[in-house]
This record gives sequence, structure tokens and C-alpha cells, in this order.
Amino acid sequence: MSMSNQHITLLILYYSRHGSTRALADAIAEGATAAGAEVLLRTVADSTRDQEADTAKQPKSDRDIQVSLEDLKNCDALALGSPTRFGHMASSLHAFFETTSTQWLQGSLTDKPAAVFTSSSSLHGGQESTLLSMALPLLHHGMILVGIPYAEPAVHQTRTGGGPYGASHLSQHQETSLSEHEQQCAEALGRRLVTTASRLKKEQNLGKHH
Ligand SMILES: Cc1cc2nc3c(=O)[nH]c(=O)nc-3n(C[C@H](O)[C@H](O)[C@H](O)COP(=O)(O)O)c2cc1C
Repeated sequence: MSMSNQHITLLILYYSRHGSTRALADAIAEGATAAGAEVLLRTVADSTRDQEADTAKQPKSDRDIQVSLEDLKNCDALALGSPTRFGHMASSLHAFFETTSTQWLQGSLTDKPAAVFTSSSSLHGGQESTLLSMALPLLHHGMILVGIPYAEPAVHQTRTGGGPYGASHLSQHQETSLSEHEQQCAEALGRRLVTTASRLKKEQNLGKHH
């Protein structure tokens, strides 16, 4: 564990039907773990399963555990990920946020850092609008949004996903593997969430003792 970072728990909350958003979640987790954080990967119930014919097969594993409202309270930072769905986050993820009004009233996420990530199948198919729309509930919850600064070389170099608004992947032909630059952007975002959470936690702890 990095000596400079406080003990940080990063909740990576994502929805993924075909595995691309999940690949980004993994890359963010790698960056965060390397920065010394504990990572909790969690997903949400699929609210569209019954209505849409679906041939996708996702392996069931521990990583398919659904998020609990306690997870929101207990985390120090949050990364939120969704496929791009008509230029917006998936309704399953949005539906989850509509169950968080108690946490909103309690300020469970207030003053914690957050970041967003997405995967889309076409280059100009709405990654940025999806990322910005995902920031909205997080702002309502009082979270502190972090992106990926241009100081990260991969943000300049990428020809697919990854940009200042968050990590992303271009999954043309349902390709789930991240490009080198997408991987670097996602890892950088994971690291940045951890260092930001650590700084904030240090300040908040100092505040408590004064
Ligand atoms: C209902 C629906 C809407 C979609 N809308 C878009 C879209 O607006 N733009 C786009 O580029 N891709 C769109 N896609 C494709 C997904 O964003 C893309 O396949 C994504 O990589 C899936 O992520 P996943 O592998 O995590 O499920 C859509 C897919 C579905 C099923």
C-alpha cells in the first residue's frame, strides 16, 4: 500500500451487458489498487432484461454482486460506469439512483470524489453526452467530480476512447479489449480518484480534530 495514501475504499459501480464497460471497470480497479486502495466492484439489477431479447451471456461470478445502499455510505470514492444507450446512461443504472433518496438526504456521498466511464459502439455515438449525464446524479449527491487531465499523455494520443470527461472505450464490433491508451486513461482515472479521496479524507480527519 502506498505510504502517502490514507486507507481508501473505491466503489466501482457499473452496468455492463456485453463486457466492455466491465473491462473499463477492471482497468480503473487496476489503477486504484496500484495506488493502494481497496476496490469494491458492484453492479445493479438489469431492469430491461424482461423487455428485450438478449443473447449476451455474462459469466456469473462474485463480480456480479449487486450494490447495496450501505456500499454508498461506506465508500470513500465512486467510479460510475455504463454503456452508452442512445447517448445516455443505461436505464438500469438510472433506476438504481432513483432508490438513493435516503442517501441523498443523509449526504452519504457528499464531499467524496467521483468519476464516470462509458463504452459505446460508435466513435461519435454519444460518449461525452453519456459521461456528462452520468455526472448529474453525482452532483446532486454533492460529490466532487474528477476527470482525466491532459497531463495524462494517453488523453492526447488516443484515437478511440478516453478523454477529459472520463474513461471510455470504443467497442466496435463488440470488441471488449481496451486499446493501450484506453487502458492508460482508465488506470489514470482510478489513481486520481484514490489520491483525491486520500487528500480529502486527510483534510476531513484534520478538521475533526480541530
Ligand atoms: C439499447 C441500446 C442503445 C445503444 N445506444 C448507443 C448509442 O447511442 N451510441 C453508441 O455508440 N452505441 C450505442 N449502443 C451500443 C453500446 O453502447 C455498446 O455496445 C457498448 O459497448 C456496450 O457496453 P457493454 O459491453 O458494457 O454492455 C447501444 C446499445 C443498446 C443495446
